[in-house]
Amino acid sequence: MAELARGGRRDAAEVEIRVDGREVRVPAGATLLDAIRAAGGDVPTLCYHETLEPIGACRICVVELEGSRTLVPACQRRAEPGTLVRTDTERVQTSRRMVAELLQSSADTSLAPDVERYGRAYGSRPERWRPLLDGAQEVEAPTPARVDNDLYVRDLDRCILCYRCVEACGEQVQNTFAIGVAGRGYGARIDAGFELPLPESACVYCGNCVAVCPTEALVFRGEYEMRRAGTWDEARQHVTTTTCPYCGVGCPIELHVQDNRIVKATAPVDDPTTHGYLCIKGRFGWAYVHAGLETGAGQEPDRPAAAGASPD
Ligand code: SF4
Ligand code: SF4
Ligand code: FES
Repeated sequence: MAELARGGRRDAAEVEIRVDGREVRVPAGATLLDAIRAAGGDVPTLCYHETLEPIGACRICVVELEGSRTLVPACQRRAEPGTLVRTDTERVQTSRRMVAELLQSSADTSLAPDVERYGRAYGSRPERWRPLLDGAQEVEAPTPARVDNDLYVRDLDRCILCYRCVEACGEQVQNTFAIGVAGRGYGARIDAGFELPLPESACVYCGNCVAVCPTEALVFRGEYEMRRAGTWDEARQHVTTTTCPYCGVGCPIELHVQDNRIVKATAPVDDPTTHGYLCIKGRFGWAYVHAGLETGAGQEPDRPAAAGASPD
């Protein structure tokens, strides 16, 4: 029997459920997704993010639950004792295919690898919705990406409304509440309030919304420009984990380096301090490395601009 909690003893605070015919024991409060993974399986997820409370927006993770009339989202539903779950029935596959088709037909998912992968896996045919969408009054014309600051771009035609960014900006991580969802239906969009440019909003440019966006609807400015120029190439990038030099917290940061230049900073999601989140300094402050290298200011010959910040 697979176990989520190790130790070999049956704990009163555990529940036992059956996943695709396989018994699994998980701690009380675990979700069906936890149980499915503990049983060695998996289901697709999009709005789910390991550092956020389950959002339940996309419904691509649905599974069949014995006794339930409807499919249930595995990322959100708690495992109850005796639950019988089926993760890959024809009904489940049809539902996931529909979710993928609707997302792929209403947003540009070409830079959303998970959406594209699930679409292929479930036989999505988004083109069959095109005639309906073309005739719908509410469907808005493509909107150009909003490039209104130096740090990140909002390219919202790529947005699948997973709400991850809203949760990361709000009480779960950043507590800034700079962005939310405005509008309804096809007009729903991520907004910083009254369609304001970001510099006029409450945004503090931590970039945490960008870090959790699965579709590049929110994208770092440098990456956005390099993609447009055709020079962004992850195959030529390597990642160096170092320590943010700006304050005593010492957050670990991952510097993505291409052609001997830092092109992006992220943080390891499994770090117990940051959980992958940073402030503006850790996220964007690395630019001084190249400023120093280009001007030679404060350097001795053949030495990098700052300790720990060498691209290599
Ligand atoms: S950069 Fe930070 S403060 Fe600004 S919208 Fe994103 S999460 Fe909110
Ligand atoms: S901008 Fe990105 S993270 Fe935010 S709702 Fe859209 S797809 Fe999700
Ligand atoms: S991943 Fe479960 S509802 Fe989105």
